[in-house]
Amino acid sequence: MCGIVGAVSERNVVPILLEGLQRLEYRGYDSAGLVVGHGGQLERVRSIGRVADLASKCANTSGLIGIAHTRWATHGVPSERNAHPHISKNHVAVVHNGIIENYEILRSRLDAEGYEFTSDTDTEVIAHLINSHYARGNSLLSATQAALAELVGAYAIGVIASDNPDHMICARRGSPLLLGIGIEEHFIASDVSALLPVTRRFVHLEEGDVVEIGRSGYQIYDAESSRVEREIQISELSNESVQLGAYRHYMQKEIHEQPQALADTLESVCNSQSLVPGIFGAEAAQTFAETGSILILACGTSYHAGLVARYWLEEIAGIRCTVEVASEYRYRVSVAEPKTLVVVVSQSGETADTQAALNHAKKNGHDHTLAICNVAESALVRLCKLRMLTRAGPEIGVASTKAFTTQLAALFMLTLVMSKQRGRLSAEQEQKHLHELRHLPAAVQKVLDLEPQIAKLAEQFAGKHHALFLGRGLHYPIALEGALKLKEISYIHAEAYPAGELKHGPLALVDKDMPVISVAPNDALLEKLKSNLQEVRARGGELYVFADAHTHISEADGIHIMQMPEHAGYLSPILHTIPLQLLAYYVALQKGTDVDKPRNLAKSVTVE
Ligand code: F6R
Repeated sequence: MCGIVGAVSERNVVPILLEGLQRLEYRGYDSAGLVVGHGGQLERVRSIGRVADLASKCANTSGLIGIAHTRWATHGVPSERNAHPHISKNHVAVVHNGIIENYEILRSRLDAEGYEFTSDTDTEVIAHLINSHYARGNSLLSATQAALAELVGAYAIGVIASDNPDHMICARRGSPLLLGIGIEEHFIASDVSALLPVTRRFVHLEEGDVVEIGRSGYQIYDAESSRVEREIQISELSNESVQLGAYRHYMQKEIHEQPQALADTLESVCNSQSLVPGIFGAEAAQTFAETGSILILACGTSYHAGLVARYWLEEIAGIRCTVEVASEYRYRVSVAEPKTLVVVVSQSGETADTQAALNHAKKNGHDHTLAICNVAESALVRLCKLRMLTRAGPEIGVASTKAFTTQLAALFMLTLVMSKQRGRLSAEQEQKHLHELRHLPAAVQKVLDLEPQIAKLAEQFAGKHHALFLGRGLHYPIALEGALKLKEISYIHAEAYPAGELKHGPLALVDKDMPVISVAPNDALLEKLKSNLQEVRARGGELYVFADAHTHISEADGIHIMQMPEHAGYLSPILHTIPLQLLAYYVALQKGTDVDKPRNLAKSVTVE
């Protein structure tokens, strides 16, 4: 989704803005732009397409203050006129991430006041609104505060004015924005990665904060316009961690980072002799003791992680668990079960639907909340009482990979802790699970070694238009995840079914042109799955089976086997995810799609 960068400095800020935008490209965008202030004027450059196209137009642009933006279209098609920044009467410039819900009413009013609209965006309303307050003699800060009070919706904004070369204003509510602290220079950005070349000192702004930023200082005002201090945090992210290195794509890099990401996420339990609730927060023991059921809310890949966890939580911990797509739950009238622990799962921690679902759950009376999230300072983490941070590191590729497997690891730890607390885990079982968790990174590395074979297999998919994924039990959500990965980066239509559902409809689709990919772990459902595979083969379907050792499914005409290592018990879904990620990656390579930035998609979905 949209990315914001801003800077006020004693040096030319254009290279800082362009580098920042490049680093935010992963969020997904269709156009980009920047505006700088100098000599009492605003100079704007905008471009449809890549940040590189914008950079090529900026050769003669410079200024000591500026704001920049990558746009992911919501109101109005992707075009140069709709690209940000938007400028009101050559006077006030604004970049915005979020959605203004009451923009139509405001637009009619501002139209009547003589403000001319040159785009179809909701953002242009903000520029004119601030300008209308500014023109009445307010400071840029007060004008912005007054305008924000009239907005309904979500925003992170950066504002500059032609006659104020020394100050930039920024504000956030519902969309991410942080402040970067330099020496005699300050910055704003949607996330830390954008500013790593210029600073590692950051202030994470709270909901409703408005900031006046100069070269040598800044003042933060909270939602009630009171001056507040916010803690400066030093980012642990290194510049290298967001660089591509030797890999061809971020997705490939992130797939290969999974052993380390899992080891980091599991560090707290792997280095200890026993499982303790404290890894989820100081109040976890008390909360878990009171928990009677679990409700998991998430979107996309994170939702699939929740679906796997449901099998674990019910079977191992004996606790009732429901999993809901956040965008549905937020609008559904539901019956709140007392003693339910609400678990939100998210890579970014900024997903608008998941945030809204969490707020909806709280309004419904749920006050036990846990975030499983990859970004420590994100909104979801701050909104929940308990937390477990996955330590996947920055995920740049739009298609989620290492975030998913680390979410699974975190959810498995939740299962074990819950199970122990409920007296369902013997000391012996606990040690066995801990041993398996310690071994997990090495087991994942072994599966990654299948990469060359999977790259070869992918050649057979490049000409296909559809694919069917099958799984059963714990691995049905893995089939869903495999289908999602394939469709989002290769644009091949892919669907996933629990294998037992085949004969209730999807079998009608099976013919020689429909590849059927099956996850075949050596578990209790193996024999059932084998019968389902026979059903496919009998209809001439081409089978691609990811089979554990000793499953006794043999290569034959129309049956291609990818041999997985030993069965990993409850952790098997994590291992079976890896080849499906690699398959999607190599099929996308075959098809020549933009692997890290698939069309129409954004990394951080901060609007509804
Ligand atoms: C798919 C993918 C998305 C995200 C979804 C939720 O590869 O990445 O489906 O999983 O948009 O995002 P988070 O986890 O940031 O809440």
